[in-house]
Parts: sequence; C-alpha cells; structure tokens
Amino acid sequence: MGAGTGGRRMALILGIESSCDETAAAVVSDGCVVRSSIVATQHDLHERYAGVVPEIASRAHLERILPVVEEAIREAGVALDDIDAIAVGHEPGLIGSLLVGLGAAKALAWSRSIPLIGVNHIHAHLWSPCLDAEPIEYPALGLVASGGHTTIFLVTSPTEISPLGASIDDAVGEAFDKAATILEAGYPGGPAIEALARDGDDRSLKLPVARLGDTLDFSYSGLKTALLYAVRGQPVGRGREVTYPRSAGDLDHQARADAAASFQRAAIGALVRNMDRALEQHEVTGVLVGGGVTANGCLRRELAAICESRSLPLRLARPEYCLDNAAMIAGLAAPLLAADLTHGMDLAAAARVPVKSA
Ligand code: KG4
Ligand code: ZN
Repeated sequence: MGAGTGGRRMALILGIESSCDETAAAVVSDGCVVRSSIVATQHDLHERYAGVVPEIASRAHLERILPVVEEAIREAGVALDDIDAIAVGHEPGLIGSLLVGLGAAKALAWSRSIPLIGVNHIHAHLWSPCLDAEPIEYPALGLVASGGHTTIFLVTSPTEISPLGASIDDAVGEAFDKAATILEAGYPGGPAIEALARDGDDRSLKLPVARLGDTLDFSYSGLKTALLYAVRGQPVGRGREVTYPRSAGDLDHQARADAAASFQRAAIGALVRNMDRALEQHEVTGVLVGGGVTANGCLRRELAAICESRSLPLRLARPEYCLDNAAMIAGLAAPLLAADLTHGMDLAAAARVPVKSA
C-alpha cells in the first residue's frame, strides 16, 4: 500500500455495500481519503412497513447497484482500470441483499483480474472514524451502535478486534426504531426520536436501563416494553388479543416529546455507562465510534464528556459515515489488502457471524 504522495502510488479501492437498505459504492485511496461515496437509500420503499422488508430490499439493490457503482467511479474522477482492488461487505446482513453486492463485486474483480476483499460490516463501522481524518492510534476502545449491533470492542490494530460486551437482545438502533413506532414519530426511527426529544423533558418518565452484573453487555428489550406501557397504558388480554387503553395519538405533543426524551436518555445512558466502565478496565490510547446511532447528538456529547474527563481522544465518524456507506468498506480493505487478507471467487455471504478479527 502506498503512502500517497512523492511518487508512490496509493491503493485505490472500490467498495460495495448492500447489507441492508442502502445501496452504496465508494472509491477510497489508501484507506482514509474518500474520493467518492454514493449512497442510494431505500427509506421511501420501506417507510409504510415501518421496517426493512428483505424481498423489497434485495430487488431494489439489483436495480440500483450498477448505476451506483458507475456514479462512484465517475465522481472519483477515475477509470475502472485505475482501481487496484474491489472490496465488498459480505457479512453480516440480509442474505438476499448481501448477495447482490457480492455478485457485483465478484464480477468486477474477475473481469479486471484484481483482488477481491470481503469485509465484515461491523468491523468496517469501526474504521469509519478515520475516513477523511487522521490515522488512528492503537490500542483503542471501539463502540459500534447501529440498527443490528450494539458492541464494545478492544481494537488492537486495524485488522484485530475483540468484543468485550454486546446486546443480549435488541440492538440500540432497533430500540430507537421500535420507540418511534410506539410514539408514531416517523421512519427511520432514530432521527425521528432525536428530533421529537428536543422538545421534551428527559426526566419526566423513569424508564429502566438494564444492568447485567459486572459485564459490558446491554439489554434493550425491557426499556422498549417499559416505554410501550408508559405510552399506551397497561395491556389487557394476551397474545394476539392484547389491547391497550390508548395510543400515542391520544397524547399531546408535549407528552410524546417527554416520552421520547426519557427513552433517549435511558438508551444512551446505557451506552455511555458501559463505555465508561470499559475505559476503567482497559488501557487505551483513544476511543473509536461508528454505526447509525452514533449520529445522535446526545450520544456524541456524552461520549465527548467521558473522553475529556480522561484526556483521551474521541474519534467519532463524521455524520455521513455513521450510517451505512461503502467508504468504510473500501477504507478497511486497505489494511486487509496490505496484510494479504484477500479472497477468491468462492467468497460467501453470511447473514450472521460471530464478530472476530479479519
Ligand atoms: O449503521 P446503520 O445505518 O445500519 C445498520 O448497520 O444497522 O444504522 C441504522 C440505525 C437505525 O436503527 C436508525 O434508527 C439509527 O441507526 N439511527 C439513529 C440516528 N440516526 C440513525 N439512532 C439514534 N439517533 C440518530 N440520530
Ligand atoms: Zn451498519
């Protein structure tokens, strides 16, 4: 991998990401310099279902993948011939969606006879803080907070990560999305709850934040249920027959905003509490943060406060790289390529994987 200037050529990598509901492609040089990052979101297609419908997602990826790749190459001002390797997020995610990106990546790598690099999506979120930013120092503590994952990592090098704690049930982003459904706040849920919470008092409801002994694990299902009962009242009946005395529509704006703010405080409080605890247990040179939920202003401020109190640099992904994107895939691929961690045409997609080093 080249250093960039002074005659040495930088590794120019095309990344492809299609694990959920964003079709994305990006060109990144030397792991950190983003030459282009194109994200075609499918939010409009899934909004009416208040969640991602896998069949709709994979069909939309098929329609969008080639135009998105072409746009990424055009916007980077390069030709396909200039690309040194193709990187693809191949795990974890929705299997039908992953297969679309993987098929496109294999076709490109095979037709140009260049390396193919399979990248773990969660690991790539930990790389996002160094996109368009300074290189990272190791060891670092990492947090990935997204719609599918809530995990704290010890990051010992660009390619070596080990999980220290994770959610035992819902991911924090999933909890935000469910809270938005309960509060009829809109889709996608995270930004809708954050916007509604701005008008609310975050101490108006006492919502539980699960403590799982001395571990760094999380649990969000109890918080979601507590919010449901606080908003809609105690349920009557069981199973499919269950009914509630009221719905969010019966509450005024202030009551909904107070509930959103109280939920956000509890959800983010758990992340910050466990990060603080992890920093007590591990000696690190900084903190890396990525994933959709880390776009949340309240979380960014609270993490900044705990890092400042310890004089540790906090490396937040830029807002455009918090949510799913292909720049983080192409970026992490640079150290993987440098370490010869490339793949053959038999690279498989995987819906679920234990999180481990590359
Ligand atoms: O990383 P991401 O784009 O996809 C996954 O890998 O899951 O994260 C999406 C998640 C969604 O659950 C969304 O509601 C949440 O990130 N999110 C937020 C905010 N923006 C997105 N959660 C809280 N506050 C936000 N501002
Ligand atoms: Zn993600």
